[in-house]
Amino acid sequence: MTTARFLTLADVDPRGKRVLVRVDFNVPLQDGRVADDTRIRATLPTIHQLRESGAAIILCSHLGRPKEGEPDPKYSLGPVADHLGKLLRQSVPLVVDWLNGVEVKPGQVVLLENVRFLKGEKGNDDDLARKMARLCDIYVNDAFATAHRAQASTHGIAKYAPTSCAGPLLVAEMEALGRVLEQPARPLVAVVGGAKVSTKLALLENLLRKVDKLIVGGGIANTFLKAAGFPIGGSLHEEGLLGKAAAILERANAQGKSIPMPVDLVCAAEISDGAKARVVQSDGVAAGDLIVDIGPRTVEAYRSLLAEAATIVWNGPVGVFEIEAFSAGTRAIAEGIAASRAFSIAGGGDTLAAVTRFGISDRISYLSTGGGAFLEFLEGQTLPAIAMLEESARATKAAEEEY
Ligand code: 3PG
Repeated sequence: MTTARFLTLADVDPRGKRVLVRVDFNVPLQDGRVADDTRIRATLPTIHQLRESGAAIILCSHLGRPKEGEPDPKYSLGPVADHLGKLLRQSVPLVVDWLNGVEVKPGQVVLLENVRFLKGEKGNDDDLARKMARLCDIYVNDAFATAHRAQASTHGIAKYAPTSCAGPLLVAEMEALGRVLEQPARPLVAVVGGAKVSTKLALLENLLRKVDKLIVGGGIANTFLKAAGFPIGGSLHEEGLLGKAAAILERANAQGKSIPMPVDLVCAAEISDGAKARVVQSDGVAAGDLIVDIGPRTVEAYRSLLAEAATIVWNGPVGVFEIEAFSAGTRAIAEGIAASRAFSIAGGGDTLAAVTRFGISDRISYLSTGGGAFLEFLEGQTLPAIAMLEESARATKAAEEEY
C-alpha cells in the first residue's frame, strides 16, 4: 500500500481487468458542448495509465442535479463522451442502459450515462451499489470533487466491489491538501474570500488553528471590518455573524496570529459595469458606499505577506473581480501567489475562474478540482468516500491476514 490508509492503483493489477472508475465529470455545458474541460483533462493520466495496462475501462460520473428516476437530456453525459473521445483520440461510447451489464473490451473506454438518473444513487442505496459493483473487477475512485458525497457510486460500491482503490487524481489531491494541513512549511498564509462568512465559518475556524496569517476578503472581510468597528456603508455583510467574526479576531490575537484588516478599500455607489470606483481609507467608508475591492496600500501589504509565505492556500476572491474596475485586488493577490516561491494551492469555482482570468494556472503549485470537497477537507471534515476506501482497505487486510 503506497498511501498507508487506502489502496491505490499502484497496489492493484488492472491488466486485462474490468475497471470501473468513478470520475467527476460534473462540468459546465453550453449549447450542448463542454464549456470547461479542466475536470476531464485532470483524469486523462488515470485513463492513459489504465489503457496502457490493457484494462477494460468503464467510467461513471454524475452531471448536475437531475431528478432521480427521470432521465433528462439536459443532464446527459453525451457531450462529455464526445469531448473525451476527442481528447483520447478514440471513440468513447456513451452507455445509456448499463446497470445489468456493460460490454467493454480491454483497451476500450466507455462512459456510463449520468449515475444520478438512477433512483437510489443519492440515497446510497445498497441494492444499487451492489449492482454497480457487479460491473467490475476493480473499482477506482478518482472523483475527489465528489468525495464529500456518500452516494452509491462514491461510497456504497466500494463495500461490494472485489477490489476498491483510490485513483491517481484523488491521491494527488489528498497529498497536496495534506501538505497544507499537516506540517506545512511556515509561514502558512491563507486567503479566504467570497461573499458570506456563514458558508465559510467552519473553514475560517479550522484554518485559524493551522495558519500563521489569515487574509480575509470580499463580503467576509466586510463582516470582519464591521465587527472590528469600521464603517462599511451599505456593503454586503452578515449582521448575524458579527459576534462570531469578533470572536475569531479575538482568538487570532490571543494565539499571536494575524488577521490583517484592509487599510484602504475601493468603493462604488453601485455594482455594475459602468460604476465609478474610488479609493477610500478603511475608516472613511460613507453611508451610501459599497465596498467592492481592496485598495492599493492593502494590496501592497498583502503581497508582502504572500512573498514571505512558505505555504499558501487560496479560496475566494477579495473583490467583485468579474467587473474590470473592481478586479485589481483579486488580480494582485493572484499574481502575488503566482510570484511567490511558496507551495501554493487554490480551489473552488470562483477562485479557479479568477486563476484562469488572470492567466496564472501554471504558476500555482496545485489547482484542486474540488469545490465543496476542497472546502470540507480544509474544514477538517472526514470525506465519506475516502473513509469508505479506508474501510475497504482495512477489510482487505483483515481478510488477507485471516487467509
Ligand atoms: C461539485 O461540482 O462540487 C461536485 O461535482 C459535486 O456536485 P454536487 O454538489 O451536485 O454533489
